[in-house]
Amino acid sequence: MSGIKVKGFFQDVTGVNRIVKAREESFKEASSVNSQTDPVRALADAIHPDRQVFTVTKVYEASPTARTFRFEPENGHIAPFQCGQYVNFYLTIGSSKVTRAYSISSAPYQARGEKPFFEITIRRNRPYFVPDWFFESVKEGSKVTAALPFSQFYYEPLRDSDHIMALAGGSGITPFASMAKEIAYESTHDDAPYQTLKNVDLTILYGSVKHTDIVCGDQIEEARKQAPDQIHVVHVMSDDPEWEGEKGFVTREIMEKYSTPDMTYFFCGPLPMFNMVKKNLTEMGVPEKRFRHDAIAQPSNVKMIPGFPEDQVGKTYQLTVMRGIQKDVIPAKADEPVAVALERAAIPVDTHCRAGECGFCRSQLLKGSIFVSPLGDGRREMDKEMGWFHACSSYPTSDLTIKIPII
Ligand code: FES
Repeated sequence: MSGIKVKGFFQDVTGVNRIVKAREESFKEASSVNSQTDPVRALADAIHPDRQVFTVTKVYEASPTARTFRFEPENGHIAPFQCGQYVNFYLTIGSSKVTRAYSISSAPYQARGEKPFFEITIRRNRPYFVPDWFFESVKEGSKVTAALPFSQFYYEPLRDSDHIMALAGGSGITPFASMAKEIAYESTHDDAPYQTLKNVDLTILYGSVKHTDIVCGDQIEEARKQAPDQIHVVHVMSDDPEWEGEKGFVTREIMEKYSTPDMTYFFCGPLPMFNMVKKNLTEMGVPEKRFRHDAIAQPSNVKMIPGFPEDQVGKTYQLTVMRGIQKDVIPAKADEPVAVALERAAIPVDTHCRAGECGFCRSQLLKGSIFVSPLGDGRREMDKEMGWFHACSSYPTSDLTIKIPII
């Protein structure tokens, strides 16, 4: 029941009269000049600022090749988020200005209270531009600008079953580390203000090559110990002779072994695993509405993108970029998304998901032709007709002229 208290007919009616009178008084005192500030908008902006500056307060190992970075806000507030959502960083690396999104690996409850923080966990198992920068340049005391939260990849009790199978590969475990921590907290704190995941039963099926590749293993184990009836973790090793648990890939047999009939399946991981999991679920007869997945990043090997025109591999085109009255002409490789060509030329482009879904990198094609990856074609029909495309998931197949927003 709500906290509304009925005092009795006459008292309640008198109460309403008092409010009406107070309202009339405030009208009398009001300025004759229109207020330019919308208090609701101002409140929403304060709770969900566009960008915030954060200080790195802790860096620790999450596996032999992965690190967890903790961020605390300068103004003491972190925009509320849900397990599975990501934060977008605005970085200056050398002469390049880039944006990169990382799933939050800490729990929502940790972003509230006296000393709020959030964490991301980055794996670097081979040289890579942004992970290299995080590992080599980001230390305790470093400042970064970021915005959060983004993405539709989170548990929604009105839509999803409270029996969840989390299917993860590599660093795709991070959203589920967040979920496990939140479940552990809510199940051990009856006074938790939000009880979003209190009744959720989470089975994590985590595919790795070797046990040393497990990311956030200790963090998840700590959560599992706090809520052993709700959190179940199954590791599957594809190439680890010493491993005594499940071996091989995350096959249909393994998924069926740990499934219950009413599960919702969440997936986060690399493209080959996504394809396998999707096929398994289809064969298992699981309806699409019970399969939810994070944005699928475009693979660096374009040959893995269905329909990619292979004769384009190795070609370079001329990209003419219009920004307001400014015009730049830069090279663009046919096997790299247009957004990467812009970043290489230090032309700022706003990207969040980098998977064709969010629309932040929306640009207009004025001349030329592109290949749009079917793995992430989140364009609306009207956008397609008007020549808009998402630079993060589109590849040049000729010289191009494009128009991009100024940021
Ligand atoms: S960054 Fe999300 S659609 Fe391009």
